Amino acid sequence: MDAVSVIRTKRDRGRLDDAQIDWVLAAYTRGEVADEQMSALAMAILLNGMDRAEIARWTAAMIASGERMDFSALPRPTADKHSTGGVGDKITLPLAPLVAACGAAVPQLSGRGLGHTGGTLDKLESIPGWRALLSNDEMLGVLRDAGAVICAAGDGLAPADKKLYALRDVTGTVESIPLIASSIMSKKIAEGTGSLVLDVKVGSGAFMKNLADARELASTMVGLGTDHGVRTVALLTDMSTPLGLTAGNALEVRESVEVLAGGGPSDVVELTLALAREMLDAAGLEHADPAKALADGSAMDVWRRMITAQGGDPDATLPTARETETVTAPASGVLTRLDAYAVGVAAWRLGAGRARKEDPVQAGAGVELHAKPGDTVTAGQPLLTLHTDTPEKFAYARQALEGAVDVAGEGTGFEPVPLILGR
Ligand code: URA
Repeated sequence: MDAVSVIRTKRDRGRLDDAQIDWVLAAYTRGEVADEQMSALAMAILLNGMDRAEIARWTAAMIASGERMDFSALPRPTADKHSTGGVGDKITLPLAPLVAACGAAVPQLSGRGLGHTGGTLDKLESIPGWRALLSNDEMLGVLRDAGAVICAAGDGLAPADKKLYALRDVTGTVESIPLIASSIMSKKIAEGTGSLVLDVKVGSGAFMKNLADARELASTMVGLGTDHGVRTVALLTDMSTPLGLTAGNALEVRESVEVLAGGGPSDVVELTLALAREMLDAAGLEHADPAKALADGSAMDVWRRMITAQGGDPDATLPTARETETVTAPASGVLTRLDAYAVGVAAWRLGAGRARKEDPVQAGAGVELHAKPGDTVTAGQPLLTLHTDTPEKFAYARQALEGAVDVAGEGTGFEPVPLILGR
């Protein structure tokens, strides 16, 4: 077998057979297929696609490139959630302790932000002392003690995906449904969860800009999970405007703690509860009541145990940015659009995100929203507050926000987009 013949097969719109897929991913993981060859193959897959059987084999080969975790010794059913990524998407933070408070074990392997979407680990690292890197034994220990753990995936889990995702990121080959589906599902299946709820985002701030693509991605991932014995469900949810009222690291932790304390923005609460119900149903805990666990403080108790078990201080003051600037409403009327992608890019430019994997992030940077689509605003009132330690970035962030806001005169109809678009 050689890499060039595998590339030619896909370049010429052929099907990759099982032996070709197994060989190319194993050889790439060992370093015997070069990055430039894998880039060419990824581009051929992006342009010419893969059928369901190819995607299934590709996913199985990525799983086989590393170790598989096993939570079968835990006394509770396991449930996990994965979001395809968005702006202000802090849902994992309240959701994992909430579902654990309702009786499931939640092993939540999470990632860092790249580009305009935030990363769960970056957010949690704004809590003084909190550690994302745990050994497998430590992870299991936190899961046993607290019921939930949120940490980085170890190097041994789907190493083929780790290499390939970094390569796709710099070769314009991220936006391929077969490659995204196999990348996400190989890690989730190798992680060993019994059930999985996928939050597939749709809209300007998401990978999938329209409902048809999001549906195809969702059904591909649900098929892969089900074939591997993981009870898998997907919700399609709106990402045309940011979730909640914050996009940034410490800013989003603060908002998540508000949700755990029984408050917080209504969209964050709605999505947290909807995903919790799906996770509990998939884990066979359909009689649990997540709204009660938020209201009675039991989800907050799990949060505090989980943060403490990972070295963090749940009572510590969260970092704030050194400088703030206000963006005001351009006109009076009803705010009809506040674009998620623009807010995500602004938060990223202010220092909340990174341009390269090795860049640091600012804990306090980001964007705070003072109104959401549907709200009435007055010209000149504060619409957004920009937070950063590097005030020279304000102008650059403002550029990202140009054209991001629409305000319509009174009497103009406003049709709210439902948060949950499909299941
Ligand atoms: N997240 C992943 O883990 N992989 C992708 O390909 C895209 C998003």
